[in-house]
Amino acid sequence: MNSSCSAFHAKMAVLQCQFIIAYHSRSTTPLNKKHFCSKKCFRPSGHRLGTGIRIAPTQSQQLPGYPLKVWNAIETPSIPRSIHDIPNGDHILGFGANLAKDHPGYHDEEYKRRRSSIADMAKKHKIGEQIPAIEYTTEEIDVWGQVLTKLSALYPTHACKEYLESFRLFNFSPNRIPQLEELSQITGHHTGWKIRPVAGLLHPRQFLNGLAFKTFHSTQYIRHPSNPIYTPEPDICHEILGHVPMLAHPDFAQLAELIGLASLGASDKEIWHLTKLYWYTVEFGTILEDDGVKAFGAGLLSSFGEIQHMKSGKPIFQDLDPFAKLPKMSYKDGFQNMYFLCHSFSDVSAKIQSYLETIQSAN
Ligand SMILES: [Fe+2]
Repeated sequence: MNSSCSAFHAKMAVLQCQFIIAYHSRSTTPLNKKHFCSKKCFRPSGHRLGTGIRIAPTQSQQLPGYPLKVWNAIETPSIPRSIHDIPNGDHILGFGANLAKDHPGYHDEEYKRRRSSIADMAKKHKIGEQIPAIEYTTEEIDVWGQVLTKLSALYPTHACKEYLESFRLFNFSPNRIPQLEELSQITGHHTGWKIRPVAGLLHPRQFLNGLAFKTFHSTQYIRHPSNPIYTPEPDICHEILGHVPMLAHPDFAQLAELIGLASLGASDKEIWHLTKLYWYTVEFGTILEDDGVKAFGAGLLSSFGEIQHMKSGKPIFQDLDPFAKLPKMSYKDGFQNMYFLCHSFSDVSAKIQSYLETIQSAN
């Protein structure tokens, strides 16, 4: 595996990313009957659905997900009416305190204890409470600093303009790992999105459902220091550098929310399709700008190797059709062979809105 590639070299790592959690800490208001005439018209943020029914805005937030092989391990939940209905610690499917044998930190007992400690803090977090601050070690800060420094050099030419615009809001420093609470307050101020800490990999349904409530489930632990530019899973570097700035941009935030809304009451088959849709947009989406293709997906924006591969001329690009069968995630030499190319966030959001209305009508 190419060591220059970050969190998304392995297919499972990719899947896990989508489903890994972090939840936001702000107090939310559960939806009441006026927000629901049926699951078809549920929309927590006050947008108009295909049914033509408008729902009042609320402070409620978001949803989560998990890998197919354990799909049936969790009973299909009822449709959540607020972020309070989405557990963030009951069904952790992987990562967190449990590392696979090929994880760089598998033989490092101290590293595993550290991760367990941070994961336990996430499990105990209650909505409405401040997200627990992690006292990162000098070694952990050094890892963050290396990742930030390397990626920051690429962003001006590789990241989309919306990312660059939002990136400035956070004043990231290589000398300090930001706390999720402060990041959540910034995204909350700009788009209403909140961050919620998570102990590991969530079921895809839960993860995606969280998006409907403008809540992004995020890990807090960091990759193993043996190789700062590689991680087989989402970690705090991926969450902060890949996801957080985009969640502070309203155009992207709407796209992510639409995927979440489509997942409410969706069948298992539809959840799997939405998982791929999330994957090919939120994680690996690209967008065409005047001076070329730029990255907006977190798997690109947080990977030193993958974001350069995207601009190498090797991968192919194709337009996204949410109604079409989406391809299996394909990798070669640790990177994806194909990326979906968006022409604007409004264009891709309109397409996802159409898909959302279609599956709501079918359900
Ligand atoms: Fe991710």
